[in-house]
Amino acid sequence: MIPQYTENLETAALTIQQHIVDEQRRFPGATGEFSFLLSGLTLATKKIQDQVRRAGINNILGEFGAVNVQGESQQILDVYSNRVMIQSLSSRKSVGVIASEEEDEARFLNDSPEAKYAVIFDPLDGSSNIDVNVSVGTTFSIVRRPAGATDDDPNQWVLQKGAKQIGAGYVVYGSSTVMVYTVGNGVHGFTLDPGIGAFVLTHENIRMPRQGKSYSVNEAYFDNFPQHYQDYINHLRSGESGNYRSRYIGSMVADFHRTLLRGGIFIYPPTASHASGKLRLLYEANPIAMIAEQAGGFATDGHSRILEVDPKEVHQRTPLVVGSQHEMELFEEFAGRRAKASSV
Ligand code: AHG
Ligand code: MN
Ligand code: MN
Repeated sequence: MIPQYTENLETAALTIQQHIVDEQRRFPGATGEFSFLLSGLTLATKKIQDQVRRAGINNILGEFGAVNVQGESQQILDVYSNRVMIQSLSSRKSVGVIASEEEDEARFLNDSPEAKYAVIFDPLDGSSNIDVNVSVGTTFSIVRRPAGATDDDPNQWVLQKGAKQIGAGYVVYGSSTVMVYTVGNGVHGFTLDPGIGAFVLTHENIRMPRQGKSYSVNEAYFDNFPQHYQDYINHLRSGESGNYRSRYIGSMVADFHRTLLRGGIFIYPPTASHASGKLRLLYEANPIAMIAEQAGGFATDGHSRILEVDPKEVHQRTPLVVGSQHEMELFEEFAGRRAKASSV
Protein backbone atom coordinates (compact mmCIF):
# COMPACT_ATOMS: atom_id res chain seq x y z
CA MET A 1 0.00 0.00 0.00
CA ILE A 2 1.26 3.50 -0.77
CA PRO A 3 1.70 5.46 2.48
CA GLN A 4 -0.72 8.32 2.84
CA TYR A 5 0.87 11.73 2.59
CA THR A 6 -0.85 14.43 4.53
CA GLU A 7 0.46 17.94 4.50
CA ASN A 8 0.93 19.13 8.04
CA LEU A 9 0.04 22.78 8.25
CA GLU A 10 1.00 23.00 11.90
CA THR A 11 4.68 22.23 11.37
CA ALA A 12 7.23 23.76 9.05
CA ALA A 13 5.75 27.21 9.57
CA LEU A 14 8.72 29.02 11.09
CA THR A 15 11.18 30.24 8.49
CA ILE A 16 14.83 30.88 9.22
CA GLN A 17 14.34 34.62 8.68
CA GLN A 18 11.70 34.72 11.39
CA HIS A 19 13.88 32.61 13.66
CA ILE A 20 16.83 34.94 13.21
CA VAL A 21 14.69 38.00 13.95
CA ASP A 22 13.34 36.28 17.10
CA GLU A 23 16.89 35.44 18.19
CA GLN A 24 17.97 39.03 17.70
CA ARG A 25 15.16 40.30 19.94
CA ARG A 26 17.11 38.77 22.83
CA PHE A 27 19.65 41.57 22.39
CA PRO A 28 18.20 44.93 23.41
CA GLY A 29 19.34 47.64 21.05
CA ALA A 30 20.12 45.22 18.22
CA THR A 31 19.92 47.07 14.93
CA GLY A 32 18.94 44.20 12.66
CA GLU A 33 22.27 44.37 10.81
CA PHE A 34 23.26 40.93 12.00
CA SER A 35 19.93 39.44 10.86
CA PHE A 36 20.47 41.07 7.47
CA LEU A 37 23.96 39.56 7.31
CA LEU A 38 22.58 36.07 8.03
CA SER A 39 19.91 36.53 5.38
CA GLY A 40 22.76 37.21 2.92
CA LEU A 41 24.18 33.80 3.78
CA THR A 42 20.85 32.04 3.35
CA LEU A 43 20.36 33.74 0.00
CA ALA A 44 23.82 32.70 -1.18
CA THR A 45 23.36 29.09 -0.11
CA LYS A 46 19.99 28.93 -1.87
CA LYS A 47 21.73 30.04 -5.07
CA ILE A 48 24.51 27.49 -4.57
CA GLN A 49 22.04 24.68 -3.95
CA ASP A 50 20.19 25.66 -7.09
CA GLN A 51 23.34 25.02 -9.15
CA VAL A 52 24.27 21.91 -7.16
CA ARG A 53 20.81 20.48 -7.92
CA ARG A 54 21.39 21.06 -11.63
CA ALA A 55 24.96 19.76 -11.63
CA GLY A 56 25.42 17.52 -14.64
CA ILE A 57 22.91 19.28 -16.85
CA ASN A 58 24.29 22.79 -16.87
CA ASN A 59 27.97 22.38 -17.73
CA ILE A 60 29.02 23.38 -14.24
CA LEU A 61 30.78 20.16 -13.35
CA GLY A 62 34.50 19.53 -13.58
CA GLU A 63 37.68 21.41 -13.00
CA PHE A 64 37.90 25.18 -13.39
CA GLY A 65 41.48 24.93 -14.62
CA ALA A 66 43.12 26.78 -11.76
CA VAL A 67 44.71 25.84 -8.48
CA ASN A 68 43.90 27.68 -5.25
CA VAL A 69 46.50 29.07 -2.87
CA GLN A 70 46.52 25.75 -1.04
CA GLY A 71 47.52 23.86 -4.15
CA GLU A 72 44.11 22.27 -4.68
CA SER A 73 42.54 22.10 -8.09
CA GLN A 74 39.45 24.32 -8.12
CA GLN A 75 36.19 22.92 -9.42
CA ILE A 76 33.89 25.19 -11.45
CA LEU A 77 31.38 24.95 -8.63
CA ASP A 78 34.01 26.03 -6.07
CA VAL A 79 34.59 29.20 -8.04
CA TYR A 80 30.89 29.81 -8.65
CA SER A 81 30.00 29.26 -4.98
CA ASN A 82 32.77 31.58 -3.85
CA ARG A 83 31.53 34.34 -6.16
CA VAL A 84 27.95 33.94 -4.99
CA MET A 85 28.97 34.15 -1.33
CA ILE A 86 31.02 37.30 -1.92
CA GLN A 87 28.32 38.90 -4.07
CA SER A 88 25.61 38.25 -1.47
CA LEU A 89 27.74 39.52 1.39
CA SER A 90 28.84 42.63 -0.54
CA SER A 91 25.38 44.11 -0.19
CA ARG A 92 25.56 43.68 3.59
CA LYS A 93 27.35 46.81 4.71
CA SER A 94 28.00 45.33 8.14
CA VAL A 95 30.49 42.87 6.60
CA GLY A 96 33.88 44.55 6.62
CA VAL A 97 36.11 41.58 5.82
CA ILE A 98 35.77 38.19 4.20
CA ALA A 99 38.09 35.22 4.01
CA SER A 100 37.42 32.10 1.98
CA GLU A 101 39.04 28.80 1.14
CA GLU A 102 39.07 29.95 -2.48
CA GLU A 103 40.65 33.37 -1.86
CA ASP A 104 44.40 33.71 -1.40
CA GLU A 105 44.06 36.11 1.51
CA ALA A 106 41.52 37.77 3.76
CA ARG A 107 40.26 40.99 2.22
CA PHE A 108 38.17 44.05 2.91
CA LEU A 109 34.68 43.97 1.46
CA ASN A 110 33.00 47.15 2.66
CA ASP A 111 34.74 50.12 4.17
CA SER A 112 31.56 51.71 5.49
CA PRO A 113 31.52 52.84 9.12
CA GLU A 114 28.86 50.19 9.81
CA ALA A 115 31.29 47.43 8.86
CA LYS A 116 31.87 45.47 12.02
CA TYR A 117 31.85 41.78 11.13
CA ALA A 118 34.13 39.38 9.32
CA VAL A 119 32.70 36.30 7.60
CA ILE A 120 35.01 33.36 6.96
CA PHE A 121 33.76 30.53 4.81
CA ASP A 122 34.33 27.41 2.78
CA PRO A 123 31.98 28.03 -0.15
CA LEU A 124 31.85 24.38 -1.22
CA ASP A 125 33.09 21.67 1.09
CA GLY A 126 33.69 18.22 -0.33
CA SER A 127 33.67 19.57 -3.87
CA SER A 128 35.64 16.65 -5.27
CA ASN A 129 32.47 14.61 -4.57
CA ILE A 130 30.24 16.72 -6.73
CA ASP A 131 30.91 14.86 -9.98
CA VAL A 132 29.61 11.63 -8.46
CA ASN A 133 26.47 13.06 -6.90
CA VAL A 134 27.58 12.86 -3.27
CA SER A 135 26.57 15.40 -0.60
CA VAL A 136 28.56 18.62 -0.38
CA GLY A 137 28.19 21.68 1.84
CA THR A 138 29.06 25.26 2.79
CA THR A 139 30.50 26.33 6.16
CA PHE A 140 30.64 29.81 7.67
CA SER A 141 32.01 31.53 10.74
CA ILE A 142 31.24 35.09 11.89
CA VAL A 143 33.44 37.19 14.16
CA ARG A 144 33.29 40.79 15.26
CA ARG A 145 35.91 43.34 14.28
CA PRO A 146 38.28 43.22 17.25
CA ALA A 147 38.92 46.37 19.27
CA GLY A 148 41.93 48.19 17.93
CA ALA A 149 41.86 46.57 14.47
CA THR A 150 43.34 48.96 11.94
CA ASP A 151 41.95 49.68 8.49
CA ASP A 152 44.92 48.32 6.61
CA ASP A 153 45.11 44.69 7.69
CA PRO A 154 42.13 42.37 7.24
CA ASN A 155 44.05 39.57 8.99
CA GLN A 156 43.54 41.36 12.28
CA TRP A 157 39.80 40.80 11.85
CA VAL A 158 39.88 37.10 10.99
CA LEU A 159 42.81 35.76 13.03
CA GLN A 160 40.82 35.29 16.21
CA LYS A 161 40.18 32.22 18.34
CA GLY A 162 37.05 30.24 17.51
CA ALA A 163 35.73 31.10 20.96
CA LYS A 164 35.23 34.63 19.60
CA GLN A 165 32.72 33.49 16.98
CA ILE A 166 29.35 35.14 17.41
CA GLY A 167 27.70 32.91 14.86
CA ALA A 168 28.55 29.82 12.85
CA GLY A 169 26.87 27.25 10.72
CA TYR A 170 26.77 25.14 7.62
CA VAL A 171 24.51 24.04 4.84
CA VAL A 172 24.52 20.47 3.60
CA TYR A 173 23.34 19.88 0.04
CA GLY A 174 22.22 16.31 0.53
CA SER A 175 19.00 14.44 -0.11
CA SER A 176 17.50 17.73 1.01
CA THR A 177 19.17 21.08 1.66
CA VAL A 178 19.60 21.71 5.37
CA MET A 179 21.02 24.76 7.14
CA VAL A 180 22.28 24.40 10.70
CA TYR A 181 23.29 27.50 12.62
CA THR A 182 24.02 28.87 16.05
CA VAL A 183 24.37 32.35 17.45
CA GLY A 184 25.44 30.97 20.81
CA ASN A 185 21.97 30.01 21.99
CA GLY A 186 21.66 26.38 20.93
CA VAL A 187 21.73 24.83 17.49
CA HIS A 188 18.83 24.90 15.08
CA GLY A 189 18.30 23.16 11.76
CA PHE A 190 16.18 24.27 8.81
CA THR A 191 15.25 22.39 5.68
CA LEU A 192 14.81 24.17 2.39
CA ASP A 193 11.25 23.80 1.19
CA PRO A 194 11.73 23.94 -2.58
CA GLY A 195 8.05 24.74 -3.10
CA ILE A 196 8.28 28.08 -1.32
CA GLY A 197 12.04 28.68 -1.55
CA ALA A 198 12.41 29.13 2.20
CA PHE A 199 14.34 27.34 4.92
CA VAL A 200 11.79 26.14 7.50
CA LEU A 201 12.51 24.99 11.05
CA THR A 202 12.73 21.20 11.15
CA HIS A 203 15.33 20.54 13.88
CA GLU A 204 14.75 22.75 16.88
CA ASN A 205 17.41 22.90 19.58
CA ILE A 206 19.52 19.99 18.34
CA ARG A 207 21.25 18.00 21.08
CA MET A 208 23.99 15.60 20.10
CA PRO A 209 23.35 12.12 21.63
CA ARG A 210 25.71 11.36 24.55
CA GLN A 211 26.93 8.31 22.67
CA GLY A 212 26.58 7.22 19.07
CA LYS A 213 26.98 4.09 17.01
CA SER A 214 29.42 5.13 14.31
CA TYR A 215 32.89 6.53 13.90
CA SER A 216 34.00 8.44 10.84
CA VAL A 217 37.60 8.59 9.65
CA ASN A 218 39.48 7.89 6.42
CA GLU A 219 40.71 4.43 7.35
CA ALA A 220 42.85 4.19 4.21
CA TYR A 221 45.43 6.35 6.02
CA PHE A 222 45.27 4.26 9.20
CA ASP A 223 48.91 3.16 9.12
CA ASN A 224 49.99 6.80 8.99
CA PHE A 225 48.00 7.90 12.04
CA PRO A 226 49.80 8.50 15.35
CA GLN A 227 49.75 5.42 17.57
CA HIS A 228 47.08 6.63 20.00
CA TYR A 229 44.65 7.31 17.13
CA GLN A 230 45.25 3.76 15.88
CA ASP A 231 44.75 2.35 19.38
CA TYR A 232 41.53 4.32 19.80
CA ILE A 233 40.10 3.20 16.45
CA ASN A 234 41.08 -0.39 17.20
CA HIS A 235 39.30 -0.09 20.52
CA LEU A 236 36.11 1.10 18.79
CA ARG A 237 36.43 -1.73 16.27
CA SER A 238 36.91 -4.31 19.01
CA GLY A 239 33.39 -3.85 20.34
CA GLU A 240 34.66 -3.15 23.88
CA SER A 241 32.98 0.23 23.82
CA GLY A 242 29.75 -0.59 21.98
CA ASN A 243 29.07 -1.95 18.52
CA TYR A 244 30.44 0.64 16.18
CA ARG A 245 30.06 0.86 12.48
CA SER A 246 32.21 2.93 10.19
CA ARG A 247 30.74 5.74 8.08
CA TYR A 248 32.87 8.01 5.89
CA ILE A 249 31.53 10.13 3.07
CA GLY A 250 34.56 12.34 2.45
CA SER A 251 32.57 15.58 2.75
CA MET A 252 33.22 16.96 6.22
CA VAL A 253 29.88 18.76 6.43
CA ALA A 254 27.94 15.60 5.58
CA ASP A 255 30.04 13.42 7.88
CA PHE A 256 29.63 15.92 10.70
CA HIS A 257 25.90 16.41 10.12
CA ARG A 258 25.35 12.69 10.64
CA THR A 259 27.54 12.81 13.75
CA LEU A 260 25.56 15.77 15.11
CA LEU A 261 22.20 14.06 14.68
CA ARG A 262 23.14 10.47 15.50
CA GLY A 263 26.14 10.91 17.77
CA GLY A 264 29.54 9.24 17.50
CA ILE A 265 32.82 10.76 16.40
CA PHE A 266 34.38 12.33 13.31
CA ILE A 267 38.15 12.39 13.10
CA TYR A 268 40.61 13.87 10.63
CA PRO A 269 43.92 12.99 12.27
CA PRO A 270 47.43 14.19 11.62
CA THR A 271 49.27 11.83 9.32
CA ALA A 272 52.94 11.10 8.79
CA SER A 273 53.05 13.43 5.77
CA HIS A 274 50.53 16.02 7.04
CA ALA A 275 51.28 16.74 10.69
CA SER A 276 48.37 19.19 10.91
CA GLY A 277 45.88 17.05 9.04
CA LYS A 278 43.96 18.45 6.12
CA LEU A 279 41.08 20.49 7.46
CA ARG A 280 41.34 24.24 7.90
CA LEU A 281 40.94 25.84 11.32
CA LEU A 282 39.14 29.08 10.49
CA TYR A 283 36.41 27.99 8.10
CA GLU A 284 36.09 24.24 8.68
CA ALA A 285 37.05 23.26 12.25
CA ASN A 286 35.93 26.45 14.05
CA PRO A 287 32.30 26.58 12.85
CA ILE A 288 31.93 22.80 13.32
CA ALA A 289 33.40 23.08 16.83
CA MET A 290 31.04 25.88 17.84
CA ILE A 291 28.02 23.92 16.57
CA ALA A 292 29.25 20.75 18.34
CA GLU A 293 29.74 22.52 21.68
CA GLN A 294 26.43 24.33 21.43
CA ALA A 295 24.76 20.94 20.88
CA GLY A 296 26.43 19.30 23.89
CA GLY A 297 29.38 17.71 22.09
CA PHE A 298 33.03 18.69 21.96
CA ALA A 299 35.87 19.33 19.50
CA THR A 300 39.65 19.20 19.88
CA ASP A 301 42.74 19.18 17.71
CA GLY A 302 43.75 15.97 19.44
CA HIS A 303 45.17 17.89 22.41
CA SER A 304 43.35 21.19 22.98
CA ARG A 305 39.90 22.61 22.53
CA ILE A 306 39.57 23.77 18.91
CA LEU A 307 37.91 27.01 19.98
CA GLU A 308 40.99 27.99 22.02
CA VAL A 309 43.52 27.59 19.22
CA ASP A 310 45.13 30.91 18.36
CA PRO A 311 45.27 31.15 14.56
CA LYS A 312 48.41 32.41 12.89
CA GLU A 313 47.26 32.33 9.27
CA VAL A 314 44.06 32.23 7.28
CA HIS A 315 44.50 28.80 5.73
CA GLN A 316 46.04 27.16 8.79
CA ARG A 317 45.29 23.45 9.01
CA THR A 318 44.41 21.48 12.10
CA PRO A 319 43.67 17.91 13.09
CA LEU A 320 40.01 17.63 14.10
CA VAL A 321 38.40 15.27 16.60
CA VAL A 322 34.73 16.10 17.16
CA GLY A 323 31.77 14.24 18.52
CA SER A 324 29.63 13.07 21.40
CA GLN A 325 30.65 13.28 25.05
CA HIS A 326 31.22 9.55 25.41
CA GLU A 327 33.43 9.10 22.36
CA MET A 328 35.35 12.31 23.09
CA GLU A 329 36.06 11.31 26.70
CA LEU A 330 37.25 7.92 25.51
CA PHE A 331 39.51 9.56 22.92
CA GLU A 332 40.98 11.78 25.62
CA GLU A 333 41.82 8.70 27.69
CA PHE A 334 43.75 7.28 24.76
CA ALA A 335 45.47 10.60 24.08
CA GLY A 336 46.27 10.92 27.81
CA ARG A 337 47.61 7.41 28.05
CA ARG A 338 49.94 8.11 25.19
CA ALA A 339 51.04 11.42 26.72
CA LYS A 340 51.95 9.55 29.92
CA ALA A 341 53.67 6.74 28.09
CA SER A 342 55.85 9.11 26.07
CA SER A 343 56.77 11.23 29.08
CA VAL A 344 58.19 8.23 30.95
P1 AHG B 1 37.22 20.82 0.29
O1 AHG B 1 36.43 20.14 -0.77
O2 AHG B 1 36.56 22.05 0.82
O3 AHG B 1 38.66 21.04 -0.09
O4 AHG B 1 37.25 19.87 1.59
C1 AHG B 1 37.41 18.49 1.43
C2 AHG B 1 37.71 17.91 2.76
C3 AHG B 1 36.54 17.57 3.66
O5 AHG B 1 35.28 17.88 3.18
C4 AHG B 1 36.66 16.09 3.87
O6 AHG B 1 36.38 15.78 5.20
C5 AHG B 1 38.08 15.78 3.50
O7 AHG B 1 38.43 16.72 2.54
C6 AHG B 1 38.26 14.40 2.93
O8 AHG B 1 39.61 14.19 2.74
P2 AHG B 1 40.22 12.77 2.43
O9 AHG B 1 39.85 12.46 1.03
O10 AHG B 1 41.69 12.96 2.64
O11 AHG B 1 39.63 11.80 3.43
MN1 MN C 1 36.25 22.01 2.82
MN1 MN D 1 35.89 23.87 -0.27
